Amino acid sequence: MKPKVYITRRIPEPGISLIEQSCDVILHPHDEPPTHEEIMDHIRDKDALLCLLSDRIDREIIEAGPNLKVISTFSVGFEHIDVAAATRKGIYIGYTPGILTEATADLAFSLLLGTARRITEGDRFLRGHGWKTAFSPSLLLGTSVWGTTLGIVGLGRIGKAVARRARGFNMEVLYTKRNPLPRDEETNLGVEYRSLEELFEQSDFVSLHTPLTDETRHLVNGARLRLMKPTAVLINTARGPVVDEAALVRALQEKWIAGAGLDVFEKEPIDPTNPLLHLDNVVLLPHLGSATTQARSKMATVSARNLLAVLHGEAPPCWLNQEVEKIRPLTRTKML
Ligand code: DGY
Repeated sequence: MKPKVYITRRIPEPGISLIEQSCDVILHPHDEPPTHEEIMDHIRDKDALLCLLSDRIDREIIEAGPNLKVISTFSVGFEHIDVAAATRKGIYIGYTPGILTEATADLAFSLLLGTARRITEGDRFLRGHGWKTAFSPSLLLGTSVWGTTLGIVGLGRIGKAVARRARGFNMEVLYTKRNPLPRDEETNLGVEYRSLEELFEQSDFVSLHTPLTDETRHLVNGARLRLMKPTAVLINTARGPVVDEAALVRALQEKWIAGAGLDVFEKEPIDPTNPLLHLDNVVLLPHLGSATTQARSKMATVSARNLLAVLHGEAPPCWLNQEVEKIRPLTRTKML
């Protein structure tokens, strides 16, 4: 009998066709995510689940799937999955680290440049027929990027990729991280360690690259925003709840800081009443960090391979919870 797989959204090819070659697939056919109840219903007889970061895979869902052997998420982030509950049940978890690093770093840098140089405001101004004078010496003046100071919060894979880009703009790069890097790595990367508070005080741009955990939720709060220079810009391509959005709105409205470039929000999709939508000093994007054809197609391939590997009784190429093997060895997940 073929393994039964539930896939919660159409992902780019060759993701689904790889799985369909050897499994019976039920694909949620809509762009809108399935409800919690729909996932619960489907999971009852499934051997494997391929999900997205907008699907909440909690203990209830995990316990509703007695045959479930693998959860493969089409994302590097995994805060939507109860990893501890899955591990306890012997369920392997695959994810997609490394693949979207450069795409996300490109987007963080686009937001940095776009916010500093008021790119989207200029575009709106022109399309709104506001451009009446050939050249105005003080029209839409932005702020320099070249030679300024960038503070990176969380110097993991994506933070480091942003640091490398910043060097091309002659920026001084500060970083903060729970465990600072060894000195030689700092030198190679051209970065200097600062405490979180020092980094907020000294940077012209602060870019966030931490995962969302209990420790990082609302890490950027009113008190920290108050530390920033009034000319500084905040960039968030990590996770919305790392920033206290109400405090950020206040900081932007009252000009504690100059602007923000945001790809992620506390609530996604953003609420139509969100005050950020009425501010000019922000650039807002709908969670596009990994949105390149190349990155998304690779993410699809890796998430399919993670899922299939477990059903073949093999280690998933990108495996989150290695400790699960003690609970259910791979010999007991083999169906293919
Ligand atoms: C992820 O993978 O976690 C990103 O936020 C979206 O690709």
